[in-house]
Amino acid sequence: MTKLIETMKNRKSIRTFNGEKLSSGQISELEAFAKDVSNPFGIPVTIKLLDAKENGLECPVIAGETMYAAGVVEKKPYADVAFGYSFEKFIVHAYTLGLGGVMIGGTMKREVFEKAAGISDSEMMPCVTPLGVPAKKKSIKETMMRKGVGADTRMNSDKLFYDGVWGSPLTPEDDIADVLELVRWAPSAVNKQPWRVIFKDGRYHFYEKKNNGFNGPATGDLQKIDVGIALYHFVTGLEQKGKKADVIVEDPGIQIPADTEYIASVAL
Ligand SMILES: Cc1cc2nc3c(=O)[nH]c(=O)nc-3n(C[C@H](O)[C@H](O)[C@H](O)COP(=O)(O)O)c2cc1C
Repeated sequence: MTKLIETMKNRKSIRTFNGEKLSSGQISELEAFAKDVSNPFGIPVTIKLLDAKENGLECPVIAGETMYAAGVVEKKPYADVAFGYSFEKFIVHAYTLGLGGVMIGGTMKREVFEKAAGISDSEMMPCVTPLGVPAKKKSIKETMMRKGVGADTRMNSDKLFYDGVWGSPLTPEDDIADVLELVRWAPSAVNKQPWRVIFKDGRYHFYEKKNNGFNGPATGDLQKIDVGIALYHFVTGLEQKGKKADVIVEDPGIQIPADTEYIASVAL
């Protein structure tokens, strides 16, 4: 198992940190990685590292943090999907350096973060993440938050991954089953897991199964961000197994429920 697969597999959101500042080496490493945090949609996502104290940044669910990263993207179609892909790539990289974080799209004073990130009218800052060394013990508010959203559970794969038609459970080969586990355990807003995947004619088609209350002008559609995250986990899992994966946007026209939207496909 590669380090990246291991990191994605074992990741959990971190909301309690040990209070230490990041070293200048860690900061430059993160800044260098952030410069090239591409996604298959060719939409640039800018990641800004912000000192928490200097910018007066705090979140009610986070403790012991000294730094945040804010992600900024131009408002346009697929901005939210691209954001999810790139921002998750950045956070997973931070985890490989021994750091932790959590995407925060709701539980923060948004205007303070947007000001610190310096966004223009044509841009949005859907989410931020604290960055730091995880504390040995979770705060009570973190434990309660995890309990509240059932963060240690996920839907079964037969509810998420389908064979040919909507709702018919997929039985994938072992190699792909491993990668779909990385998708199943990906993080999502309020742990709603809105991704659904239909395998048909050699392609894995990704859909968003929508819940109310996740879409707004400041954040874009948070559940499209979730699907972008799921796509990152799938594509990276495949690449780490030596498979070439192309992301394309070509709706196969499979019949889907009304509250569902086609997002993108992965061709192997
Ligand atoms: C787009 C997005 C937005 C999120 N917003 C918040 C938030 O505002 N506050 C928070 O505490 N967690 C937030 N989370 C973290 C989720 O609650 C968390 O990923 C989920 O409960 C699963 O837990 P895990 O990441 O430990 O596996 C967000 C996650 C995503 C992907």
